[in-house]
Amino acid sequence: MWNALARACALALGLAALAACGGTEVSAPPAPENDGPSEISGLKTPAAFAGIEDDEARAAALFSEMTKVMFHPRCANCHPRDGGPRQGDDMSPHVPQVVRGDGLGAPGMECTACHGASNVAFATSEGSIPGAEPWALAPASMGWIGLDATALCAQVKDESRNGGRSLADLVDHNTKDHLVNWAWNPGDGRAPAPGDQATFGALTAAWVEAGAHCPG
Ligand code: HEC
Ligand code: HEC
Repeated sequence: MWNALARACALALGLAALAACGGTEVSAPPAPENDGPSEISGLKTPAAFAGIEDDEARAAALFSEMTKVMFHPRCANCHPRDGGPRQGDDMSPHVPQVVRGDGLGAPGMECTACHGASNVAFATSEGSIPGAEPWALAPASMGWIGLDATALCAQVKDESRNGGRSLADLVDHNTKDHLVNWAWNPGDGRAPAPGDQATFGALTAAWVEAGAHCPG
């Protein structure tokens, strides 16, 4: 069954080269101003929080809104604290089972054996193999399945667990990273994360600006 799946992947990836020719880069719309819309596709914009005067309360509310994205399966499936990725909206174990390895999978079973540079529709059924280059599992210290918003907030601010990122680096990552971007371009058969990357990046920037306080 393993080999059959691997073969199916190889086949689909062969077609990927063709699909990639017609592939489009989706660029994020500009960040909303404070007087812009207060919600985009189920994600509130910073404007919705502008009325909260207390910095700690506003930062906490902004981070709670950010977790609508971070806890969404499109993000969380790649951010487990244990050994392997999840898949689907029910966040079930990845089929076939793959191990973390160094984040790129085990030798001979690397993520990139199946996951290419872009999403590839299944040849014979509904759905797709997700892709973005390079495709990798987030390190366990950056895993958050099972955490609450308070613990997640402390973790992403902790440079010993977040890959040595400053708050400015986090804003940059959330605004521009290609794997973050994939969550809004997840391929056939998958619902995107709420909002869009520009709004998520703007929420992150507003949270940092308000002092990066965490929800209690
Ligand atoms: C394909 C897997 C994958 C997906 C999907 C993914 N990430 Fe990540 N993420 C990673 C990897 C790998 C790293 C580590 C990158 C590094 O440190 O160089 C990472 C790092 C991060 C970091 C910085 C480290 C930290 O813990 O603060 C943040 C923030 C983050 N991801 C947020 C998100 C969000 C939000 C989404 C969804 C919108 C998302 N990721 C989707 C794989 C993924
Ligand atoms: C043998 C092929 C294969 C390997 C190796 C593989 N994957 Fe996958 N992966 C798939 C297929 C196929 C799907 C789509 C499953 C579906 O939607 O039915 C998938 C789906 C996923 C998803 C689900 C996305 C979502 O939100 O539903 C994530 C996350 C993921 N893979 C991460 C990884 C990571 C990280 C690695 C390496 C550690 C890896 N995969 C290795 C074939 C593979």
